[in-house]
Amino acid sequence: APEHHTGSLKEQIAKVFEVSLKVTVPDEPEVAPLIAVCSKKEAADYQCNNAMSLWSKIKGKGTEFRGPQPVGQAIMRNLPTSDMIESCSIAGPGFINVKLSTQWIAKRIQNMLTDGIDTWAPRLSVKRAIVDFSSPNIAKEMHVGHLRSTIIGDTIARMLEYSKVDVLRRNHVGDWGTQFGMLIEFLFEKFPDGEVTDQDIGELELFYKASKQRFDGDDEFKERARKAVVALQSGKEEKYQKAWAQICEISRRGFEKVYERLGVHLEEMGESFYNPYIPLALKELNDKGLIKDDEGAKVIKIIEGKKALPLVATEKDGRYSYASTDFAALWSRLPEEEVKWIILVILQSGTEEKYQKAWAQICEINRKGSKIVYQRQGVHLGESLNNTYIPLALEELDDKGLIEDDEDAKVIKIIEGNKVPPLIVTKTDGGYNYASTDLAALWYRLNEEKAEWIIYVTDVGQREHFKKIFAAAKSAGWLPADESKYPKTSHVGFGLVLGDDGKRFRTRSTEVVKLVDLLDEAKTRCKAALVERGKMAEWTAEELEQTAEAVGYGAVKYADLKNNRLTNYTFNFDQMLNDKGNTAVYLLYAHARICSIIRKSGKDIEQLKREGQMLLQTDDERKLGLHLLQFAEAVEEACTNLLPNVLCEYLYDLSEKFTSFYSECKVVGSAEETSRLLLCEATAVVMRKCFHLLGITPVYKI
Ligand code: ARG
Repeated sequence: APEHHTGSLKEQIAKVFEVSLKVTVPDEPEVAPLIAVCSKKEAADYQCNNAMSLWSKIKGKGTEFRGPQPVGQAIMRNLPTSDMIESCSIAGPGFINVKLSTQWIAKRIQNMLTDGIDTWAPRLSVKRAIVDFSSPNIAKEMHVGHLRSTIIGDTIARMLEYSKVDVLRRNHVGDWGTQFGMLIEFLFEKFPDGEVTDQDIGELELFYKASKQRFDGDDEFKERARKAVVALQSGKEEKYQKAWAQICEISRRGFEKVYERLGVHLEEMGESFYNPYIPLALKELNDKGLIKDDEGAKVIKIIEGKKALPLVATEKDGRYSYASTDFAALWSRLPEEEVKWIILVILQSGTEEKYQKAWAQICEINRKGSKIVYQRQGVHLGESLNNTYIPLALEELDDKGLIEDDEDAKVIKIIEGNKVPPLIVTKTDGGYNYASTDLAALWYRLNEEKAEWIIYVTDVGQREHFKKIFAAAKSAGWLPADESKYPKTSHVGFGLVLGDDGKRFRTRSTEVVKLVDLLDEAKTRCKAALVERGKMAEWTAEELEQTAEAVGYGAVKYADLKNNRLTNYTFNFDQMLNDKGNTAVYLLYAHARICSIIRKSGKDIEQLKREGQMLLQTDDERKLGLHLLQFAEAVEEACTNLLPNVLCEYLYDLSEKFTSFYSECKVVGSAEETSRLLLCEATAVVMRKCFHLLGITPVYKI
């Protein structure tokens, strides 16, 4: 890590509060600071939320404090002097509002300009991660689902890499399995001399279809195909290996074209790679008694209703609880859907500020992506939800038998899914399948590659598959039962890509959209727009080409990434190439405009960085400055929740804050020119880092 690596703003504030907590409650050394962005933005920048939970911890232990507010006051009093904090105040029952020093904010931004944006990288507790993404299937066209996986997976890998995680980017291509029997036999039939070129079967999709037709229409061929699989998998007959390698190679070259355009780098370790490890992995599972016979197949029964930690709904003294930071009870009632339903359980009285505060916090979480809705008889009670619904919510949960007594408290035991069909790991014919391969791959990644976090990026349709793989691994003790511990696995599911007709995205000519064509079209359209704006005369041919490419590909990526990945999204060129609104085009142009402000000032920005001083005098400047400092938090949140849209939101927000600043504050030719140019430069630097993390190439001229 660079010398001045500071970590996120939250982390820095936490450090100061940690010192105070140690002094305030020396008997509770394990209490960690709870720092959050202040729910009332006008009141303060951040807040410390320790007082309440600390109070409930110590109140029975003969403490000198008389309630949560005095605890908060003491924490505040014991804060070490720091040039970071300008002022603190107590709100409600002990929340400590923190206002950061404007001077300090400016100083940190200036330091970043000198030391580089890498000093702002968040620190994550994981050392090595595997991102399993893209993963198309040999001899089949890479479809838009694979495009989503490629784009989302690449961004996740980039964000983790930026956060100093050692990332192994894995392309788990489908290069093994029974379909190869038919492909190989068909190849032998068509090219008996074994000489095949890209031209011959370049349209692999068609080759696949033709061989499938042959397979379905002829039993004798079917039998030969079956034998070919055995011959291939036994590894003894060279000609089968060779044919297989040829088919894979042609596919691979097709995939490479897409990766090259997208600027995505991946290491191929396909299904075939893990094949030799399957017996080993299955033996381990079998030794643990997990594998059972099921009508000739071998299966792993997925344990039903595994109980996780109970969530307190009503405290021992009958009050509704302060569960974690909020009062949320989690209830997964639609197991098919990725989106969990979270039922809010809020404290009884509407008058006390602490409850309002908690409510604000819940809203904050809601805003950041998790779906928090209490749905009852079809009524969405999102924002308007108020505490009169708590008894209702609890009653409904109780009616469903979800609320249990636990030492006088009422708790909700979280049940993870029920009635799951078993995971087939060996088919009736003795062959392995997708699941056995994934078990072997997981085994390999944990044992040989020592990965602490394994991330799988596929469409939500594979959610159940991964759930079962993970559950089996947990039963085998490969993964800890406690999901907050490492090593851990995550399935990053995403929704469908839809066409304007609201159906699965297709083009007229072919059934599946060719990704290369799609990217070409995005670029062509961008180029046309640039030509229309007279850039042909203004720029070199190369500049035109590069800009069209950066904007076109960037637009495709951003349109995908800006949505919460779980939702389906509609692929629409006109929308994604619009230069207004939340699009890559708009953002790239915003960045280029900032660069041109700096250029046109005629000032040497490097010199300003060395000699100038940033001041942040107006409200808009301060807001922009603070937002810049929150960059690491956005990346960290996007990483930990595996939600790239969080970073997109941050970026869009940044451009809006810049616009407010720029419309209120004169830059070039003003008395504050130096300071404001530095602020422009810092904004451009952070924007560029965002683009980089999203896999988008910035442009400097528009
Ligand atoms: N090849 C699969 C597909 O196209 C995706 C593989 C995902 N990764 C994995 N380890 N199963 O659907």
